[in-house]
Amino acid sequence: MEKGKILLALTGIHPQRWHELLSAEREVVLEPNGADDPSITYAVVWKQKPNLLKSLPNLRAIFSIGAGVDHIFADPGLPDVPIVKVVADNLTQHMVEYVVWRVLDHHRQASLYRAQQQKKIWHEPPQRVAGDVSVGIMGLGSLGRAAASALLSLGFAVNGWSRSERGMKGVSTYAGEAGLIPFLNATDILVVLLPLTPQTQGIVNYGLLKELHRRNGLGGAVLINAGRGRLQKDADILRALDDGTLKEASLDVFEVEPLPKTSPLWSHPKVFVTPHAAATSDPAHLVPIMLRQIAAFERGEKLENLVDREAGY
Ligand SMILES: NC(=O)c1ccc[n+]([C@@H]2O[C@H](COP(=O)([O-])OP(=O)(O)OC[C@H]3O[C@@H](n4cnc5c(N)ncnc54)[C@H](OP(=O)(O)O)[C@@H]3O)[C@@H](O)[C@H]2O)c1
Repeated sequence: MEKGKILLALTGIHPQRWHELLSAEREVVLEPNGADDPSITYAVVWKQKPNLLKSLPNLRAIFSIGAGVDHIFADPGLPDVPIVKVVADNLTQHMVEYVVWRVLDHHRQASLYRAQQQKKIWHEPPQRVAGDVSVGIMGLGSLGRAAASALLSLGFAVNGWSRSERGMKGVSTYAGEAGLIPFLNATDILVVLLPLTPQTQGIVNYGLLKELHRRNGLGGAVLINAGRGRLQKDADILRALDDGTLKEASLDVFEVEPLPKTSPLWSHPKVFVTPHAAATSDPAHLVPIMLRQIAAFERGEKLENLVDREAGY
């Protein structure tokens, strides 16, 4: 059987490296030859153009180059074929490093030491140990679970919240709407690793932040969002920081990206900004996984890490 072509449809990401690596095994095109090009059997996408995939008659699967798939569902003409999301050790490791880095930075009062250093102040503030601080992870999926393990090994008390019941040794787990408030009430540092879906959009709002536990030695609740920007309300985070509901925030994602130069988040003294860089999709690690999956699929095996279309992630 003739191998079909891969359509590489990336917006805002340079396709060259992805193209080179995919081309090692398959023919790759950047545009279909007409809206109903029969030669394309797979699509590798990031924010594909609306309706691009709609009428490709032989499309067998869509591969997201990111762990999030909200960019795929934004297409009103999405065909009914399996969608595969990224699960890769390399990407997970990047995210674990980001979460541990940000949690420790807040826990060890880095902003205070930076301010003291600027003024040449030699002063040792009281410092709690990790076991006195609870980190709550919203989204106990492949990234959330890996981050939870790393935080547990550092001695933090770890909570996790997911849609369905997810047991995890050493982690206090909560699920669904009924579990949300108890989860927040038990959490000092909130780490958001949720997917963006109609159910989660705007979930990180002022009311939610108000529910965080803030009676610990951190001096206030802390927000870390490395999920998606539209999970949060930027204005609510600013309000919470300004009235003391939040002590500090580390934000990797924003409602509008790139973060507009006019956003007050850029210069807010209590906010640490990174440009959606927590966990990069590295083609050198992800392309071999995609090519292996395609080969296995063509041998009759099942695709792994499939998106649940109804759940939207
Ligand atoms: N900033 C970056 O650089 C970067 C990089 C990669 C990924 N991300 C983001 O990280 C997200 C998570 O990735 P992942 O691979 O860990 O995803 P995943 O394996 O699909 O896990 C998603 C988790 O969120 C939970 N969840 C989904 N909808 C929910 C809801 N309505 N209420 C409660 N919990 C809900 C799921 O619950 P169940 O366990 O019950 O299914 C699951 O635990 C991605 O979707 C992406 O947006 C960001």
